[in-house]
Amino acid sequence: MIKTKIAGIGKYLPSKIVTNAELSKMMDTTDEWIVERTGIHERRHAEKHTETTTTLAAHATKQACERAGISVNDIDFIIFATLSPDYYFPGCGVLLQRELGITNTECGALDIRNQCSGFIYGLSVADQFIKSGMYKNILLVGSEMHSMGLDFTTRGRTVSVIFGDGAGAVILQPTQEDNQGVLTTHLHSDGTHAEELAMINPGSHGGRHLGTEQFGYPDPSVWGEVFVTQKMFDDALFYPNMNGQLVFKTAVTKFPEVIMEALNKTGHTPADIDMLIPHQANLRISQFVQKVLRLPDEKVYNNIQKYGNTTAASIPIALCEAWENGLVKSGDLVCLAAFGSGFTWGSALLRWV
Ligand code: UT7
Repeated sequence: MIKTKIAGIGKYLPSKIVTNAELSKMMDTTDEWIVERTGIHERRHAEKHTETTTTLAAHATKQACERAGISVNDIDFIIFATLSPDYYFPGCGVLLQRELGITNTECGALDIRNQCSGFIYGLSVADQFIKSGMYKNILLVGSEMHSMGLDFTTRGRTVSVIFGDGAGAVILQPTQEDNQGVLTTHLHSDGTHAEELAMINPGSHGGRHLGTEQFGYPDPSVWGEVFVTQKMFDDALFYPNMNGQLVFKTAVTKFPEVIMEALNKTGHTPADIDMLIPHQANLRISQFVQKVLRLPDEKVYNNIQKYGNTTAASIPIALCEAWENGLVKSGDLVCLAAFGSGFTWGSALLRWV
């Protein structure tokens, strides 16, 4: 039976480190507040004049290809997960294809907009393509350049202290070996709270959502029918907003649930997990999940302390770093899990090659 294996993995973090102390010079926040509530000490910000979400992804991809022993021209399908694309459209998939110099037009490019769970969604899609025999070298990349679109004033502090820039990539190939590859993936969504962690402008809603109590504009008529309005600029309504407490409360329920779903499906228990790589949303969320599943410290990998929350990139960056540090080894049962905007959430279980 054909399964999907990770044949190569890479990551890229921009060199510019932004500490909590530096943020506290831009807004009313403190190192203590950020560390206590999120566990984050520093994050990376890309170089705005030379880097984009696509160029970050290109660095991670080249490393993943090198480690897989393939050339970028061997890639037969690109899956690009991000919430901070270079352009509204076209998506980053084709931009990455161009950036990498892939001239093969047989190579398809798919963009995934599932935010924090984008990598898991992408892995599940890739898994189906590999298992069906359609592709042999799928590039799955998660990349974010959040720093370009955050409000670094006190008004945006709840969101802007959390997020960081970076990219992670994997090359996925078929394997027929018994004890390796993706064992199962599980995807979920519930749009009830779509606007609770969102960037809604500009968009085809034409302002309707801004008329709700949540956004504080009770008279929707002020928004009219245009895509971008002066008021959006005046009131800085093009930044992301987040109901942190609701996201936190829902995340700590959904993470263990979806991890147990993957374990149950494959006849495993939490004790069988060799390494859990949770989406790096908040260290307190990861610690809560660890406690519920009764996992020892060495079986849960966290690097949010150094990189912040890099959304679609956080799982491949953490997985890559754990592997580079020798913490993920051949035959290990690795569990990936994510929860975020949408809300969407998911999990994957794999045997490391
Ligand atoms: O990838 C998935 C995406 N997001 C998440 O997973 C986030 C999940 N949620 C969280 O991580 C937490 O809810 C936050 C870290 C965002 C916030 O922590 P919290 O403990 O839920 O704080 P809060 O929102 O209840 O705010 C407490 C106080 C408020 O002040 P008052 O009203 O008590 O006076 C905020 O205005 O902290 C204030 N605050 C800040 N203070 C200093 C909010 N942001 C900051 C800040 N620095 N950066």
